[in-house]
Amino acid sequence: MRQLEKRFIRSGKVKDIYDVGDGKLLFVYTDRLSSHDVMLADKIPHKGQVLCRLSAYCFENCKAHGVETHMIEALGTNEMLAKKLFLIPVEVIGRNYLYGSYWKRYQRGEIQLPEGTEPVLAARLTEPVVEFTTKFETKDKPLTEQEILFREWVGTREIDQIKKITLELNELMLKDAEKAGFILADFKLEFGIDENGKIILADEAETPDTCRFWDASQYQPNKVQDSFDKQIVRDYLEKMKGWDKNQPTPGTKLAKPILPEEIIRKTSQRYVEAYERLTSKEF
Ligand SMILES: Nc1ncnc2c1ncn2[C@@H]1O[C@H](COP(=O)(O)OP(=O)(O)OP(=O)(O)O)[C@@H](O)[C@H]1O
Ligand SMILES: [Mg+2]
Repeated sequence: MRQLEKRFIRSGKVKDIYDVGDGKLLFVYTDRLSSHDVMLADKIPHKGQVLCRLSAYCFENCKAHGVETHMIEALGTNEMLAKKLFLIPVEVIGRNYLYGSYWKRYQRGEIQLPEGTEPVLAARLTEPVVEFTTKFETKDKPLTEQEILFREWVGTREIDQIKKITLELNELMLKDAEKAGFILADFKLEFGIDENGKIILADEAETPDTCRFWDASQYQPNKVQDSFDKQIVRDYLEKMKGWDKNQPTPGTKLAKPILPEEIIRKTSQRYVEAYERLTSKEF
């Protein structure tokens, strides 16, 4: 691989970010893992590679369908060269199923479901829903379009473009998920703006860390579903002494590993399997 002159900018939860000049960033995808908004010290082998290669696969697919993304080039197995953008500080959520925080908000009477949707946990929505949440808070809060406009990050035209791209991407990912025997329950995207004011898909996409995938063969409405990602870790931690009643506060970074080898191995396998099923390629 050719050597890049790079300046370290920061480490996110998963990626290390470098400025390589010329308006470009280098994202190094690591094997780091967080659960319950807590950064674990344990590493999941191959996770970084899976996220990087799945994102690259998705971004190639976007390009083929005329959706512009920040990817310039995938380098090696876990590095991506990307266009540096002004990142809109909003997370864009696409939903196909009534689950997670959307279900909780529905139960509290805070949202209206698309017409004809059965009001049970994990029901398929009669049409996809696009929503926005805050990005720079440890617990994401829903944001209305009016609130986004008020903060003047983008205008109505850009919001409409973001919604349109999110629905297009949903279609592309639904096709892959269906072939893979997955249900794409919901997902998160991030968008940036380039020097010409154009809206561009950024960060990562179609990964187990940004999508809630369920195994289609296990799916049953009106039930809690197992998701195809770090669910194994989540379940383990929730039963672990100390976490069951009193988990560390969101945002904490643990200094010592706490996961048994077996849990790490199974989680790693799940990530690799997700890659292979979604892309129909060997890892
Ligand atoms: N093209 C881009 N230009 C600028 N920033 C980007 C671009 N694509 C992604 N980012 C940002 O780079 C970071 C990616 O690293 P990572 O996903 O590890 O961070 P994170 O801990 O999830 O960060 P955050 O909490 O900010 O989302 C994110 O903050 C993301 O918003
Ligand atoms: Mg991230």
